[in-house]
Amino acid sequence: MTSEARKSIHGTWTGKWTFILAAAGSAVGLGNIWKFPYMAGEYGGGAFVLVYLVCILLIGVPIMIAEILLGRRGRRSPANTMAYLAVEARAFPQWKYLGMMGAVAGLLILSFYSVAAGWAFAYIFEEFNGTSAEYYGQEFDSFLKDETRLIFFHSIFIFATIFIVARGVIKGIEIWINRLMPILFIIIVLLCVYATQTGAFFEGVSYLFTPDFSKINAKVILAALGQAFFTLSLGMGAIMAYGAYMPANQNIGSTALYVAFLDTLVALLAGIAIFPIVFANNLEPAVGPGLVFVTLPWAFVNMPLGIIFGKLFFVLLTIAALSSAISLLEPGVAWIVESLKIKRYIAAAGLGFIAWTLGIFSALSFDLLAGFTPIGDKNFFDSLDFLSNQVLLPLGGIFIAIFVGWVMKRSDVFEELNLKEGLVLKAWFFLLKFVSPLVVGLIFVLAVFFGVVT
Ligand code: PFF
Repeated sequence: MTSEARKSIHGTWTGKWTFILAAAGSAVGLGNIWKFPYMAGEYGGGAFVLVYLVCILLIGVPIMIAEILLGRRGRRSPANTMAYLAVEARAFPQWKYLGMMGAVAGLLILSFYSVAAGWAFAYIFEEFNGTSAEYYGQEFDSFLKDETRLIFFHSIFIFATIFIVARGVIKGIEIWINRLMPILFIIIVLLCVYATQTGAFFEGVSYLFTPDFSKINAKVILAALGQAFFTLSLGMGAIMAYGAYMPANQNIGSTALYVAFLDTLVALLAGIAIFPIVFANNLEPAVGPGLVFVTLPWAFVNMPLGIIFGKLFFVLLTIAALSSAISLLEPGVAWIVESLKIKRYIAAAGLGFIAWTLGIFSALSFDLLAGFTPIGDKNFFDSLDFLSNQVLLPLGGIFIAIFVGWVMKRSDVFEELNLKEGLVLKAWFFLLKFVSPLVVGLIFVLAVFFGVVT
């Protein structure tokens, strides 16, 4: 049966734009504005950015198309979609574990994502009157040791996520994303304009876009690949869950391209805004997760109307994080609602509580639990980040590519895409069938071989 004939029990987006906005809402978040710049700084600038862009185009976009396609054809939560499509393709029923693994990965990510979102939330109340960029470095360091504040903001953020998912993402998202995302975009553009006035604009931009090929190694490639999955919300069923609510007549290919383009644009603009500030103030690009929280407050201090822009920026960043966080919780909640036939709010509260509890360990991992390093020398926060982004998401991506490329009937795949067989379709299928699984698999092998973890 085609997706036209079916509808998800959780509803359908009211129009084409709403799916794009919801998917972009999931994709654009802390990954673009907080994580992309600090990872670029940590992994050597242009070399990382180049590998990242290649991963987005050759692996991310094809897998995004595959995920939307799966969701829309299944019209269920990712776990049940995979179970249903496995039957349709006469494949092993164990494919459902792919959807379940995604729901678990979503909870793991949500647990530390919410802690980092809590930082953005807390910074809404920052004064923006420090006297140097270093001042903000020290502020951030002491903030990370203030457990009560960290847990407070983490708790409110998770609560808001639960609240929206409990009401149903469709209702929850449609109301505000349409209006708020464009404003966030304008502020980032304004920050880029400010960056041109720092005196180090060229230095910052060339750091981002001039690849030093000698810096490309297995570690950088794995990090860039993981970031590509993370930023596009791929590999764990978030986009699959949203695909289930997509109108049947919407073009999946162009939608995926559009979302990936918007997402990449926001990440690059964030980088263009941040690195000139880094160099103009002789800061260290590789400071890690604090980068945005050190550079941008200092920019706001120096900008006309900076206090207002600063507050607005962190409000919007928190909202962008919220629209991503709900897509982390949705696959698990939709699955439980369908399978156990319990109320949405109970499922949302139960899973949200698990993420909240795990998040407490992440919140404590910068001070009280700093000595607890589950993976290599990484603290709990970084370990979860590494495990989910650089292992679970790419692994999920490989299996999604294999399922659509090799297991599903080709005619079903093409029917769902609703495109004439032409060069573009063939190129996509080739990338999905061969390039994605092989390249991601190879990167894994290299990573293990070169001991990336330790
Ligand atoms: N893409 C989001 C971001 O860049 O902030 C994070 C995210 C959301 C990752 C949903 C994975 C996911 F399934």
